[in-house]
Amino acid sequence: MKGIILAGGKGSRLYPMTKAVSKPIIPIYDKPMVYYPLTVLLKAGIREIMLITAPADVESYRRLLGDGSQFGVQIEYGIQYVARGIADAFLIAEEFIGNDRCCLVLGDNLFNGAQLDELLARAVARKEGATVFGYPVKDPRAFGVVEFDAEGNVLSIEEKPQNPKSRYAVPGLYFYDENAVSLAKTLQPSARGELEITGLNEEYLKRGKLHVELMTRGMAWLDTGTPAGMLNAAQYVEAVQTRQGMYIACPEETAWHKGFISDADMRRIGSELKMTEYGQYLLDLVEDE
Ligand code: DAU
Repeated sequence: MKGIILAGGKGSRLYPMTKAVSKPIIPIYDKPMVYYPLTVLLKAGIREIMLITAPADVESYRRLLGDGSQFGVQIEYGIQYVARGIADAFLIAEEFIGNDRCCLVLGDNLFNGAQLDELLARAVARKEGATVFGYPVKDPRAFGVVEFDAEGNVLSIEEKPQNPKSRYAVPGLYFYDENAVSLAKTLQPSARGELEITGLNEEYLKRGKLHVELMTRGMAWLDTGTPAGMLNAAQYVEAVQTRQGMYIACPEETAWHKGFISDADMRRIGSELKMTEYGQYLLDLVEDE
């Protein structure tokens, strides 16, 4: 299965913060925002990743993530010249995806919780169709919204509805079978001029192949869409990490747990960063084992 991190877009809702840098480069507490979705892909066991971003930002991501070898994975870069919508990712990544299944995660979405591993494993194990997630929020009008019956069958999925049919928002994490690219090619731009990811999900729904997994109480899906949302996310990460002494979204740690990198790799990366808490954390992980 291939993984795509979508980190393009203009970020104009966060100007001036994002005028000179791509939003997912900005830190949430102690690490760049993109580490959070990257770690989700690693947790799902995905080792072939394409990060898609605007032309001006490719070099920053390359400096940050390189070719992925530091995390025991391959990272390549795709360019989105115009922010044509989230589903545009599948047109840009057509060759990269080939005939494979694919997971798409938005560069600004943060997830944390004990349920995450199990949800990812279920989505990865599903060979056919698409999987989206449902996350209960007080006001879902700013999101994709999924409606489902008692058996968990999806009844509808709508983008930013004025009158939501449920309180379940759809987070920016999606799993697709090998038909995603061909279905994405059939999409027409929406009223706001974008190839909507919800449009792609509707295509799967029409074919009876859209599945929803619910994120339950205790799962965190954090908003980074506003300055206040970013501060809240940072405070959440700080509180959990300080209390438990365990990091949220440390890609090296996940890569090491998965066996993508060795003890020696951890020692080397930790030593290079040993003047930081992050480096010390990596060193402690291998020593404590
Ligand atoms: O965060 C989850 C929500 O993300 C979903 O519930 C919605 O269904 C989905 O449409 C999306 O809604 P947003 O309005 O929040 O999407 P936004 O335009 O902010 O884009 C989300 C991220 O994707 C953002 O960090 C930038 C990136 N992006 C977006 C577009 C439109 C790109 O890289 N390229 C693009 O063309």
